[in-house]
Amino acid sequence: MTQALDEIKIGGLGASRRRVEDNRFIRGKGNYIDDITLPGMLHMEILRSPVAHARIRAIDTSKAWNIPGVRLVLTGEMMATRNLAWMPTLSYDTQAVLATDKVRFQGQEVACVVADDPYVAKDACEAIVVDYEPLPVIVNPEQAMAPDAPLIRDDKENQVDNVAFHWQVGDKASTERAFAEADVVSRISMHYPRSHPSPIECCGSIADFDRATGKLTVYMTSQAPHIVRAAVAMVAELPEHMIRIISPDIGGGFGNKVPIYPGYVMSILASILTERPVKWIEDKTGNLISTGFGRDVYLDGELALRRDGRILAVRMHTTSDHGAFFGDAQPSKFKIGLMHSAFACYDVPHAHLTATGVYTNKAPGGVAYRCSFRVTEAMYFQERMIQAAADDLGMDQAEFRRVNLVRDEDFPHRTAFGFLTDSGQYGRCLDVALEAIGYADFRKQQEEAREQGRLLGLGISTMTEPLGAGNSREYDILGIKMFDSAELRVHLTGRAILRTGARTQGQGHETTWAQIVAHELGIPADDVVVEEGDTDTAPFGMGTYASRSTPVAGAAVSMAARKVRAKARKLAAHLLEVSEEDVEWELGRFYVRSAPDRGATIQECAMAAYANMPDGLEPGLEASAYYDPPNLTWPFACYVVTVEVDPETGVWDVLNVVGVDDCGVRINPMVVEGQIMGGLTEAYAMACVQFITFDAAGNCIGSNYLDYLLPTAWETPGFELHEVVTPCPHHPLGAKGVGECATVGGPAAFVNAVMDAIKPYGVRNVDMPLLPDRVYEAISQRHDVS
Ligand code: CDP
Repeated sequence: MTQALDEIKIGGLGASRRRVEDNRFIRGKGNYIDDITLPGMLHMEILRSPVAHARIRAIDTSKAWNIPGVRLVLTGEMMATRNLAWMPTLSYDTQAVLATDKVRFQGQEVACVVADDPYVAKDACEAIVVDYEPLPVIVNPEQAMAPDAPLIRDDKENQVDNVAFHWQVGDKASTERAFAEADVVSRISMHYPRSHPSPIECCGSIADFDRATGKLTVYMTSQAPHIVRAAVAMVAELPEHMIRIISPDIGGGFGNKVPIYPGYVMSILASILTERPVKWIEDKTGNLISTGFGRDVYLDGELALRRDGRILAVRMHTTSDHGAFFGDAQPSKFKIGLMHSAFACYDVPHAHLTATGVYTNKAPGGVAYRCSFRVTEAMYFQERMIQAAADDLGMDQAEFRRVNLVRDEDFPHRTAFGFLTDSGQYGRCLDVALEAIGYADFRKQQEEAREQGRLLGLGISTMTEPLGAGNSREYDILGIKMFDSAELRVHLTGRAILRTGARTQGQGHETTWAQIVAHELGIPADDVVVEEGDTDTAPFGMGTYASRSTPVAGAAVSMAARKVRAKARKLAAHLLEVSEEDVEWELGRFYVRSAPDRGATIQECAMAAYANMPDGLEPGLEASAYYDPPNLTWPFACYVVTVEVDPETGVWDVLNVVGVDDCGVRINPMVVEGQIMGGLTEAYAMACVQFITFDAAGNCIGSNYLDYLLPTAWETPGFELHEVVTPCPHHPLGAKGVGECATVGGPAAFVNAVMDAIKPYGVRNVDMPLLPDRVYEAISQRHDVS
């Protein structure tokens, strides 16, 4: 009889295989951008604007040029002579590479110096004298939209105000009718503050232009190297086949390494001009003040409610602060990302969303910080609105959700904003979470505690989110459709190399993609090496962000492996001397249907592909697949948090956190849990300390880790995790994305818990972060705090 391989033993689907990449990371053998040294390499430093809004009267670089070791000083004027002073952003706006006319935010790039070593370059930056004529500064949307506001983007033809866009989605008329019929209208306004993805490794690039071959190689910290290659080809007008982008190990991205930054462009031009490799490594302050911020959105939200608890309609208006340049990376059709995925897990018949984006004198914002294009804000607003509405109706928080959640039998479900959600067990996830937290008991304890003057609170957050853009019909960036790819090459000994168009930044693709190959072919995961991030070798893909890797590139890995299996079947038939129709497959082996003992392993087929192929069959065993998903994947999560708030100080402590995630089939349960724990940590961070603000002069408060607080393992609470599995109906493995779920859904659970605790004081909202002084103000003054 045949003996099927034990899939878990070979590290296949469902195995909690240890992360292979950690072997080099924990030994200090990772290969990050700053570890790379090329012969003859020069170093670049950037001079940044100290002020947020000013006209540049003059830049004097003469002293810098005279410092020994300085090879090049670049200003906006020099970039302009090569048509490189401005570059397109990934959202059809333009962004200054080096300022020519004005600076528009503190930290903007004004000049750069290339020198023999980074210290000389830094000293030379300080020797550059810039004459600034200060201009009035705008730091929030209210100032930006004031009638007499100074025009920030006077560089743009036809730009008459500080509005970057107006956008709307949904059905205004039917929503208005539903509001007219509502028993109760629940309203809430809030702000999701600006925060920064703040990866441990900052951004950087090494550009190496070879005049002899005409080839430009750029090592850079990019989550999407193929998009960068396309953009460099457009901006620098270099032929695409002569551009090679290599993204080496990345020390965290979280969306911060998707945009194309001025530093990359400057290092490329500097290398072309000096004919030497030029390295630029951003420092922490540079990273915190100038590169892709997240969030900074204001909401006015309304829910039309029936007395029995049914939601009749939702109306939302968002105002987002994009900083000086609209630099978000997001699908071009959706100006405020997928904000309209809000309320997708609830059965809401009518919805209308209007959005206004404004320019301010802040660094470009709005990147998808561990988020599928504004989905984090959408789910936060949703769950805060849900809590406020349940309170307005006097209904139990869990019951209100249960009444309105989409039921299992209602899938596929078309949301009022037009998305199609396809699967889930929302009620079950809620039940598992409530059971785990001990819901009924906690409510009793809460009552008793209140009588003793103690403030206990419980917050729930339930949400589904759209992960895995595209399909290509609706999703593109700069017109390039959002599919992804994989290429699998099986060597003659049955070992394999897999390349994809994604780029891991810590998510563990080297581990989990090999598991997909093991599942499809029975080749042990340890026999598969995974390589990503080199545009000369990897197939074209749109990169890793928005938890799209498993839904799109991961699906492509399956499809490529299945193509390999189809060819291996022909080889097996040849080896077994039967026709293809008589060959059956089990994990790792083909066998003859009528004689199961007669078989050929996948490794034997691989050898035959190079050493014993049948006449007429192309040698070799490899395949590539480009995967265009039919729909997004829709994971579901329920997070429940309990807290105790000290009424004397506003300090709040987390008592318990329960997370129930349904991300469909889990490729590697351990990696999934790690993703959820990391996400919940970020959620906790945003709820309690992590935000960046600006003073009235546009100075960034939060330009270092003394001011920008991140919780360490010491402060972070423990998390109790549970799973529910509803396979995705269209993904080849039934998997849904998961990387960002907890960052997206988590913040509302923490905030809802604190709001629940202080409800007796009549407080409706305290904006994040819930610093003790804000909570104390809300309690002692009995009012909302923003
Ligand atoms: O795009 P990104 O890699 O950030 O997010 P993801 O596709 O959600 O995957 C994050 C990590 O979790 C990857 O290593 C996936 O292979 C793994 N994962 C999994 O094992 N099972 C799932 N159902 C989803 C993700």
